[in-house]
Amino acid sequence: MRMRDDYADYRETVSRSFADWYGSERDSWTGADTNDRVTEFVVRSAPPEAGGPRRVLDIGCGRGHQTVQFAERLAADVIGLDLLDVWDAPAARRGSARMCRGDFLSFRDSSMDLVVDNGCLHHQRREEWSAWVRHGRALLRPGGVWVVSCFLSPVAEVVARPLPDGRLNWWLTEQALVELFATAGMTVTNRDEIDRHFRHRDGYWLKYLVVAFSRE
Ligand SMILES: C[S@@+](CC[C@H](N)C(=O)[O-])C[C@H]1O[C@@H](n2cnc3c(N)ncnc32)[C@H](O)[C@@H]1O
Repeated sequence: MRMRDDYADYRETVSRSFADWYGSERDSWTGADTNDRVTEFVVRSAPPEAGGPRRVLDIGCGRGHQTVQFAERLAADVIGLDLLDVWDAPAARRGSARMCRGDFLSFRDSSMDLVVDNGCLHHQRREEWSAWVRHGRALLRPGGVWVVSCFLSPVAEVVARPLPDGRLNWWLTEQALVELFATAGMTVTNRDEIDRHFRHRDGYWLKYLVVAFSRE
């Protein structure tokens, strides 16, 4: 029970933090070039249609601009899920995109063809990672794909870089990410590194790691 309370507290911290960033228009990730590269990767990594339009879940969709891109590029039916209602994306001209407000670990559905997590897992507490991955896997149909994009650690180990407001930023290694998904029976089908052209105050040049995992 204590763990659930802790989780609710941390989810509040994350919501407050992101509300502040969106509210003050510091959400530099929305519409960033790096997101365009993630979109290209997702389109390349998506499984083929299996008897109808693909069903896609975009975890932590934020303003929903990329959610709409997935709908249009894949002619897919996409749900954008976020703790916050900050959706201000234009309507999809192909496929469909709709927003659902809530916490990923409480989201219920099944038979998704594709799950995308662009910058959400790396803000979760480490003790939730395993449940996070098992939950997402259970949403996928067999043969479904999960694309995850996260901060790539420049120091060859997993490091927490919390913000002053308590929101966690994890820098992950590829090995840790692959092992995490392997525990849920998911295997790598594609991977890439995306330069953020951003130098951390500690002097590191940072990248995103983007990996596609398939559910057997
Ligand atoms: C770095 S932003 C990325 C937004 C979007 N994917 C993009 O690239 O434009 C992370 C988003 O995840 C959302 N988020 C964080 N934890 C979440 C959770 N447990 N369930 C649903 N959304 C969550 C935040 O509110 C935030 O909008």
